[in-house]
Amino acid sequence: MAQPILINKKINPFNKNIKVSGDKSLSIRFALLASQAIGVSKGYNLLKSDDVINTLHCLKKLGVKIKTNKKYCEIKGNGLNSFKYKNNLILNAGNSGTAARLISALLISSPNFIKIVGDQSLSKRDMKRIIDPLKSFGAKFKKNSGTLPIHIKGNQSLKPINYIEKRGSAQCKSAVMLAALSTPGITKLKCIPSRNHTELLFKYLKIPTKIKRINNFDYINIKGGQNFKSFNYKIPGDISSAAFFIVLALLSEKSNLMIKNINVNKTRSGIINVLNLMGAKIRLHKIKIYKGEKVADISVKSSKNLKAIICPIKFNTSSIDEMLLIFLVAARSKGTSYFKDLSELNKKESPRLKLGSKILNMMGIRTKLRNSSIKIYGQPNLEIKKELIIKDYLKDHRIFMMSVIAALTFGGKWKIHNPESIKTSFPSFLRIIKELGGKVN
Ligand code: S3P
Repeated sequence: MAQPILINKKINPFNKNIKVSGDKSLSIRFALLASQAIGVSKGYNLLKSDDVINTLHCLKKLGVKIKTNKKYCEIKGNGLNSFKYKNNLILNAGNSGTAARLISALLISSPNFIKIVGDQSLSKRDMKRIIDPLKSFGAKFKKNSGTLPIHIKGNQSLKPINYIEKRGSAQCKSAVMLAALSTPGITKLKCIPSRNHTELLFKYLKIPTKIKRINNFDYINIKGGQNFKSFNYKIPGDISSAAFFIVLALLSEKSNLMIKNINVNKTRSGIINVLNLMGAKIRLHKIKIYKGEKVADISVKSSKNLKAIICPIKFNTSSIDEMLLIFLVAARSKGTSYFKDLSELNKKESPRLKLGSKILNMMGIRTKLRNSSIKIYGQPNLEIKKELIIKDYLKDHRIFMMSVIAALTFGGKWKIHNPESIKTSFPSFLRIIKELGGKVN
């Protein structure tokens, strides 16, 4: 295990252009869909983090041929239902909920049981949410407690399902969509809107998909059993990674930052809406549409006059992975912020609502925490003077990176354990922090 890092100085003003690595959700979806296509697909700027590497390892174990070099990742698909199933297969999704839940969906025609395992954090997370719909398609599961490890066996006579997604979970929605791919007939979904990368990819790949928005629900119909051709994809930068630097620049003094080529799809960029409502000046430049995804450069400058927010719940799903950072901005803002209906935040790699509140308290910020809501009493002039130790947080990559941003913008002496956690989603995080002038020991 790597040594904890120490930060005891705020970052000096900076004025820079940066790039962050490829989008994690899109990297995983590219790999999974390429494995089902017919022919060789190439993914450029694929994120090289543990979550994506674990996804590729699982696919290799299922007989998919994958080559990676510096520029691209090449995946040879042989069409729907073309995995090679060895006996006693064990797939390890590591820390990735997306990998575990989406790969399970691609196994619903396997002839024998396949075991799926994950690390300590992933083994605590709910799998029942995908087991139930996959069972309705006809898949079988050995008795389990609703968490990993699970054993899944497919069925040769799958039936399409009608599914209602009420959590705003893109993983549940995508699992059902991927299971629908190999199921003859029409699978129908009614979903609370969530990140729509799977829908956009299905459309781009001409998989027969109909999507309608009625009364704040997305209705998605998919005709299964239709093979599709291989494709190339240039993965844009990840807003969930860019978000750390957006907040770093916002909370630092006299700084300006431009972050190039980021996926700012509306279903992902809630943090920009929320922070602009709080008084930030985050702007998009050179906006373009790439295969249905909105991509832009993002500029942000420091702001001294941030104000509290009663956060509209319509931004919860589109900023769910950035909520910890929004809490930090609330800590610096004038007034009391309020966030509600956030029970899903406690079901991530760690219970982030609880741990986020705990870290704010350690910083000297008062919070009122409930099961699914939090009030944050902002202190625009807070200067931390004391020592803080961040550990025992299930190695949640986003808790680590949020703590680094807090240390570099609020002061104090921070000792932050488990820096290796960044390998999950953003291995170059600390290198970019140093490029911007952050002193990390
Ligand atoms: C993801 C969906 C979200 C998000 C996760 C990635 C995806 O999870 O938190 O980091 O790629 O589909 P839920 O679908 O569980 O909300």
